[in-house]
Amino acid sequence: MCGIVGYIGSKKVSPILIQGLTRLEYRGYDSAGIAVIEGNKIEVKKDKGRVNNLYSLDGIDDLKGTIGIAHTRWATHGKPSKENSHPHMDNDKIFAVVHNGIIENYNELREKLIEKGYEFISQTDTEVIPNLINYYYKEDNEKDNLKLLRAVKNTCMDLKGSFALEIISIREPDNMIVVRKDSPLVIGKGNGENYIASDIPAILSYTKDFYFLNDYEFAYLSRDNVKFYDTNLNEIKKITKSIEWDSKGAEKAGYEHFMLKEIYEQPKAIRETIGTRLNNSKICFDELNFTKEYLESVNKIYIVACGTAMHAGLVAKNMFEKLCKIQTEVDIASEFRYRDPLIDNKTLAIFISQSGETADTIAALKLAKSKGAKTIAISNVIGSSITREADNTIYTHAGPEIAVASTKAYTAQITILSLIALYCADILRRADIIKIEEIKQDLLKLPAKASKVLKNVEEIKKFAKRVYKEKDMFFLGRGVDYSASLEGSLKLKEISYIHSEGYASGELKHGPIALIDTGITVIATITDKALVEKSISNVQEVITRGAKILLITNQNLENKGFETIINIPEVATELSPVLSIIPLQLLAYYISKEKGLDVDKPRNLAKSVTVE
Ligand code: G6P
Repeated sequence: MCGIVGYIGSKKVSPILIQGLTRLEYRGYDSAGIAVIEGNKIEVKKDKGRVNNLYSLDGIDDLKGTIGIAHTRWATHGKPSKENSHPHMDNDKIFAVVHNGIIENYNELREKLIEKGYEFISQTDTEVIPNLINYYYKEDNEKDNLKLLRAVKNTCMDLKGSFALEIISIREPDNMIVVRKDSPLVIGKGNGENYIASDIPAILSYTKDFYFLNDYEFAYLSRDNVKFYDTNLNEIKKITKSIEWDSKGAEKAGYEHFMLKEIYEQPKAIRETIGTRLNNSKICFDELNFTKEYLESVNKIYIVACGTAMHAGLVAKNMFEKLCKIQTEVDIASEFRYRDPLIDNKTLAIFISQSGETADTIAALKLAKSKGAKTIAISNVIGSSITREADNTIYTHAGPEIAVASTKAYTAQITILSLIALYCADILRRADIIKIEEIKQDLLKLPAKASKVLKNVEEIKKFAKRVYKEKDMFFLGRGVDYSASLEGSLKLKEISYIHSEGYASGELKHGPIALIDTGITVIATITDKALVEKSISNVQEVITRGAKILLITNQNLENKGFETIINIPEVATELSPVLSIIPLQLLAYYISKEKGLDVDKPRNLAKSVTVE
């Protein structure tokens, strides 16, 4: 995790760095720091705590330099402290480095450097990097102008693990070097200036033209130029990609929190994800271009992801099985990659990742690809790492998602997965055509219906006020409502720190019902017409044992002892989690707010999990 920012140009750099870090704080927020070239010295200002603390550090306002690097940390090696904060320097204070990722062999490298006389002041894995650069730089007797680049390259070849690095040096005060392996980093091209960040939104207000680096590509930056090199230090050519996102997407726009703004952006996210893909009942995926012959050869679909993205996969499983009649398994990426899954060239493997940077999901994709599966990446971030690994990439168009708890990405992911399932169903013709057409028409109605659901906010606020002090809650549902319940429960855990469980309603009596006691809150979702009677019976079982019920439903149900009913519009059952999740997201939001917690940056979490 961790966020990095860099700038090389002619503007005073410290405010640009701090502002960029503020936008990346969702990636980690236990310490922050910047390093700026000031004449023939590198000034480092850093401390534990949030990015805002940087403004009060001694001497930060006096920095005049126009080249600098910055970091916001999510601690892995060494507790949050000033010493462990980035940037880190070498013993001679010639090089400053910020790092996102984990150096797995840092102990071994540290020992080697200690033998050579280097000393360490932090417990981080990162501190070996500036000292290794120092070592290689001093060893190098060449007189050419690639000396710094060579030292960085040699250092990177020694590192095992993942890294996105920014390096500045007083030996080359007008340059900066950046490189990445398995950790995100983008370069924004300006006019007489260049920007670096862990993600696009952090620097979107300065430029819309971006360079994307592959693993082990080195960017050598000056104010007006960026040169790229491979590991043999041969120059390589790269062109910029223009990003259409609006920089306002990365601002709160009057909302108190990014999460609330992103919940309200869902109708737009769904509409833009459908885009022009569904026209007069014809679905278009030129990127896939599947033939009937190919799809008939597929005997298994794997959907693999982490967290919320995995929950979107659960909703899609139902559609691939019902509409395409292909066995579909959904798996957690960190489990999938180590369980020797049965994969061959008849497997279609779909990997979902909002950020496109989740380490386990990328590793799972590489595994599936190496065993011959056809791989599809679904991501919200153009040029993200996962999109460079997959055979095909399909983007959701949710716009930048900043809050750590994912909301609009989830509904956009279900939307795009539904379109893919319907596209395959059209080609395969294995399911009832009327049903397929019905779902297509309902997909188009989702944005308007999602807007309608958002109008229930007052009732949810009231309910949140009544239950926010509770310690445990249960989320119940059957079928697709079970999938939505898992996601609703995850939202509550993430941002309100209330213990909660998502359960399949029918499974409750096989154990967990023992936990139901007087006054406990149960949130039940009932949208599947075919399962209404059974679902109601399960809810009655917990009411009998004293539970108070918040019911989310699109059915016209008589109030049989429910505390609150939230009615949502009816839609094809396959798609209903897109609507039923909205009240659950709002509930988690208002409970967290009521408890006075940091909604957008919940404790211990980071939005982009780039470590295993
Ligand atoms: C983290 C985030 C979750 C997200 C998950 C997967 O845990 O806090 O909100 O669902 O990572 O992220 P991805 O970017 O791969 O969808």
